[in-house]
This record gives sequence, structure tokens and C-alpha cells, in this order.
Amino acid sequence: MDQKQLKIEAAREALGYVENGMRLGIGTGSTAEEFVRLLAEKVAAGLDVVGVPTSERTAALCGELGVPLSTLEETPELDLTIDGADEIDSELTLVKGGGGALLREKIVAAASARMVVIADKSKLVETLGRFPLPIEVNRFGLRATELAIAAAAKKLGLSGEIKLRMTGSQPFVTDGDHFILDASFGRIPDTRALSNALHAIPGVVEHGLFIGLASAAIVAGSGGIETIHA
Ligand code: 5RP
Repeated sequence: MDQKQLKIEAAREALGYVENGMRLGIGTGSTAEEFVRLLAEKVAAGLDVVGVPTSERTAALCGELGVPLSTLEETPELDLTIDGADEIDSELTLVKGGGGALLREKIVAAASARMVVIADKSKLVETLGRFPLPIEVNRFGLRATELAIAAAAKKLGLSGEIKLRMTGSQPFVTDGDHFILDASFGRIPDTRALSNALHAIPGVVEHGLFIGLASAAIVAGSGGIETIHA
């Protein structure tokens, strides 16, 4: 089975968590998009749900496929969020933000009673940090924020390249009008310490470590589906 098919299998399994009448947080990325496609088929067949998208990109796909949408303003409490991840460890701490939607993804996940992650097996890691950590930052004082991130990381014994995410020759701009710094710190043994240190930097809007938010991860591999519970 190729990776796309594995993503579809994980997304299909996640549909089993969706019940009539639910208020759903809908993630961003290629795996979440497979979920939207399958969800749209169920909606067309009569499933009654409302979705709060985690990005403009997801909102556009939902609109195109006829998945009813709300906003977090109108629907501030959600039953379930289904989203992908860039890395997942055995405690269901995640790295997210590869698609640049980490801020809305985290706000939506935090507003949900449950967050179920969908992924192919390549996303499972022993220790987070192989994937560069996305850090969403305010445009103002970009260089000062970058230096503060490097200094905070150094205190925790972490170092590595911190790169401004680009789209072609221009910085990538998030839905919240911020920039993203991708930090290649390597293994992050103490995610809580790094999270606290990053949150203490004024220019950091949010980071891609999701700690204590996911309640389950549906992971599809060539041997079948494994569901990991928190
Ligand atoms: C977007 C994300 C995505 O969930 C993450 O990047 C995984 O994407 P994909 O399913 O395409 O591998 O965090 O901000």
C-alpha cells in the first residue's frame, strides 16, 4: 500500500468516531484532506455534522465538497477534532505545523472534547525532533525572536538551524498573518521544558508541540491499523 492509501485508511477508520449531530474540528494537511473527502460522502448520504476548519485551505475543500461549516466564534465547544501530524510519540505528544496551520489547529484541538490524530506509520517516532519544529512568530522583531529562540533552546541543551519558512522567494504567511520559523533542534527529550521556554518569548505566537491534546492516534501501516490511546 502506498502512503496515500495508508492516509486514506487512517482517515476511514476515524470516520468511526464521528456521530450524528457532532461538532467537528477539521484538521489541515494531506491526511486531513482524505478525511474531508470521506466525511463529505457521509454528509451527502445524510450524516448531520458541522465542521470548524483549522485553515482557509481546509475551509475551501469543505466548501467545495459540501461539508457544512461553522466558525469557532459560532461554535466554541467541539465534540471531536480529527487532524494529521508530522510526528507522534508513544505518549501522543505531537509535532504539527508542517502545513503551516499549527495555531488554529491548536486552538481548535484545545476547544474539543477529543482530538484523534490520523497518520501513516512513518509519523511514529521514539523521540520527537526528526521533523523541524514549526514555530509561529509575529512578523515584528523577527530576528530578535529568532535569537531568543536559539538562546532558550541552548539553555535546554538544544541547538540547530532555525530557518524562516519560504514560499518561493517570499516568506510563508500563516492564516493569522504571521511567519513560521522551522527549528531543526534534533531530538527533543523534554518537550514540556521547550514548550514553556518558547511560550515565554514575546514574539512567539505558538509552537508546533502538541502536549496532552491528542486522546488517540490512528496509525495505518502495511500490517494494518493500530490505534494508540493516551
Ligand atoms: C498542518 C499539520 C499537518 O497535520 C501535518 O503537517 C501533517 O500533514 P500531512 O497529513 O500532509 O502529512 O500540522 O499544519
